[in-house]
Amino acid sequence: MINNLKYKILFLMLFASVGTYAQSRVRESFNKNWKFFLGDEPKAKSTTFNDAKWRKLTLPHDWSIEGKFDEKNPAKPEGGGLPTGIGWYRKDFIAPANFQNRITTIEFDGVYKNSEVWLNGQFIGKRPYGYISFAYDLSKYLKAGKNTIVVKVDNSAQPDSRWYSGSGIYRNVWLTSTSKVAIAHWGVKVDPQLSTDGSKVLVNVGTIIYNKTKQNQTGALINSIYDENGKLVKKSNSYFLKLDTGNLDMTTDLSIKNPILWSVAHPKQYKLVTEILQNGKVIDSKTTLFGIRSFNFDAQKGFSLNGKSMKIQGVCLHHDLGALGAAVNVSAMERQLEIMKAMGVNAIRTAHNPPAPEFLDLCDKMGFLVMDEAFDMWAKKKNKNDYHLNFPNWHRTDLEDMVKRDINHPSIILWSIGNEIREQFDSTGIALTKELVTIVKNLDRTRPVISALTETIAEKNFIYQAGALDIYGLNYNHKKYKDFPINYPNVKFLAAETTSALETRGYYDTADSIRRWPKDGKTKFTEGNKDWAASAYDNVSAYWGSTHEETLKEAKKYNHVSGIFVWTGFDYLGEPLPYAWPARSSYFGIVDLAGFPKDSYYLYQSEWTNKPVLHILPHWNWSAGRSVEVWAYYNNADEVELYLNGKSLGKKSKQGEDLHVMWKVNYEVGTLKAISRKGGKEVLVREIKTAGAPAKIELIADRKNIKADGKDLSFITVRVLDKDGSLVPNADNLVNFKIEGEGFIAGVDNGFQASLEPFKASYRKAFNGLCLAIIQAKEKAGTIKLTATSNGLASSSILITTVKK
Ligand code: GAL
Repeated sequence: MINNLKYKILFLMLFASVGTYAQSRVRESFNKNWKFFLGDEPKAKSTTFNDAKWRKLTLPHDWSIEGKFDEKNPAKPEGGGLPTGIGWYRKDFIAPANFQNRITTIEFDGVYKNSEVWLNGQFIGKRPYGYISFAYDLSKYLKAGKNTIVVKVDNSAQPDSRWYSGSGIYRNVWLTSTSKVAIAHWGVKVDPQLSTDGSKVLVNVGTIIYNKTKQNQTGALINSIYDENGKLVKKSNSYFLKLDTGNLDMTTDLSIKNPILWSVAHPKQYKLVTEILQNGKVIDSKTTLFGIRSFNFDAQKGFSLNGKSMKIQGVCLHHDLGALGAAVNVSAMERQLEIMKAMGVNAIRTAHNPPAPEFLDLCDKMGFLVMDEAFDMWAKKKNKNDYHLNFPNWHRTDLEDMVKRDINHPSIILWSIGNEIREQFDSTGIALTKELVTIVKNLDRTRPVISALTETIAEKNFIYQAGALDIYGLNYNHKKYKDFPINYPNVKFLAAETTSALETRGYYDTADSIRRWPKDGKTKFTEGNKDWAASAYDNVSAYWGSTHEETLKEAKKYNHVSGIFVWTGFDYLGEPLPYAWPARSSYFGIVDLAGFPKDSYYLYQSEWTNKPVLHILPHWNWSAGRSVEVWAYYNNADEVELYLNGKSLGKKSKQGEDLHVMWKVNYEVGTLKAISRKGGKEVLVREIKTAGAPAKIELIADRKNIKADGKDLSFITVRVLDKDGSLVPNADNLVNFKIEGEGFIAGVDNGFQASLEPFKASYRKAFNGLCLAIIQAKEKAGTIKLTATSNGLASSSILITTVKK
């Protein structure tokens, strides 16, 4: 009885929402009201299975991040040390209105991994690759009344990805209902061809239209382009459509004069509205954002966008969102990109797989260039159970789907067919490279194809030997940048991955020497600190990499270096090189896992932005008499003067290739102060004080007003301060959180790579003075109050408002 009522209400809601568009496309989030079971339950695919005891949840969902760290978890520390396994999802739903006469499609943006889907007990499909988006036509098995969709996710075979993958339906799911004559899934392709002088653009639109009515049909196609302000700038003729059963591929051209270009600084997009009409009525309509820009890679001059030279100042990012795991959240991705933007980053490499579609939308909107990457391996494995097992049967479909899904994003400037692929070392690499490049080029001739390579001897690199790549993507080997044009005459060059420096935020060993951890590929790593930390002085790196400054200096020197992608922008879960357990997340990030910048963030900011920067390190709490190296990163100034307790320690300015200045200072308690000056005029002042004992907590929210949409986030930084308000640089107090009102704690973190505290908790120890609480809005507008308490410290509260938008 109750169930019946539930379905009636559901039906009414669905019907009400589609009523006004009964004839047109309806695309709705399909994230709510799923049931989940962790473990294997093959009987669950049956419609009669009783899931009453299963957990109810809203997608996106990553079950690994909810688990406990354990060295014995099959994913190993390299995979993040969290549980993987098998999980089942079920959802009951009412089919969209008039579904018998329409086409209903389910879209999965990503399921990690090996998903199998059943609708009403009928098998719909299997998709092994966990980083790809896919869709199924459900029409055949839909029925009136209750329908049940079941998804099995199998991430049990480990080790798999070389980093943390997450497990489950970790990206969004959508349900789309269209008429039987409609625009196909990923059926709109926009190719804006800009004239060389930039004065006009020919927008070539490809439209795939399906006719699933089993009868021939006629109709009309109209494309309209709107500018950012919603003003119609061009409308095509109405093209007559003669539709046999099957797909029809149409191309139309629209020209625009004096187009507004998309760029990193001004990421302006246009909106294309594609309409299908029958008998004068719109029966389908789809909106596609696109941008107009030109770019070029030149073997001598490097990269240019819209005719202007620019270096690619890129970072590689894995897909996890720290304490939130792999579960997609737009505000968490936006925060990552905001932090990167403020550092001066203008490009992202989606290492080493296609990202969530929303990530690319953000890159389009915020102005980032993107290197969209398909694979980390081909037929030869890196780990026992990785994608090499699926590569033979699936690489064509997966690669095609990446390009089809992502082709309209103005941010994407490169398709990468793979990272450090083992086939570069043997002759099988030749045929495979040619095949993969052809797959991409058959779909998109406008963007170059790259692969990130490590073998630097041309004759020994079979991926290069294939002669099919447009650009040589070199990983590491920064000393080889110089002679690249001699060794590879007229070859376009990008440093596709660089650096791999190792740092723990707020942790400093003496900066007397550069450490390579590990020092080579043979010797067991025995160096390192007892507390699993790495110095943040930019003096530690993997042996194949470099410090941040070492690579940056080389990349700056040569015009033929189109740019770099630093490994990595953020720390990520897994790959805790060089340390063993309990280390479980990476040390490579310029920003830690919680989103707190390490000092090298300001090195890049001083080099990659024009805003005035002055940053001094380390902290100022040392043992008496110790000699401490004080570094300053700065720009827009001729010199920096350092003072200790009011006494000048001298002026310094960067000489030659220098990227920082340094003073050796005999430590004494007090205040360290730096002033940068230009032409004698003060530009910036920075001060660090010796902190006393922890006394109070400060809470700072990145956003105080968020949407009451059940998804939006506020990231609250928790700072442990002494009684005078100075950050206590080694504070590790346990902080307890209490949350009241219209929100909940989505995750906690402190950025320390070897913490085994859970991410889903209402407490966290501070690490080097800081920790983080991530607050998620519920769906009701109101207020959220977060209170942080800690033994012996004055507590603190913060209010966040949630609003319906
Ligand atoms: C690279 C690899 C990355 C990461 C990095 C760590 O060789 O492409 O995925 O493993 O090393 O330094």
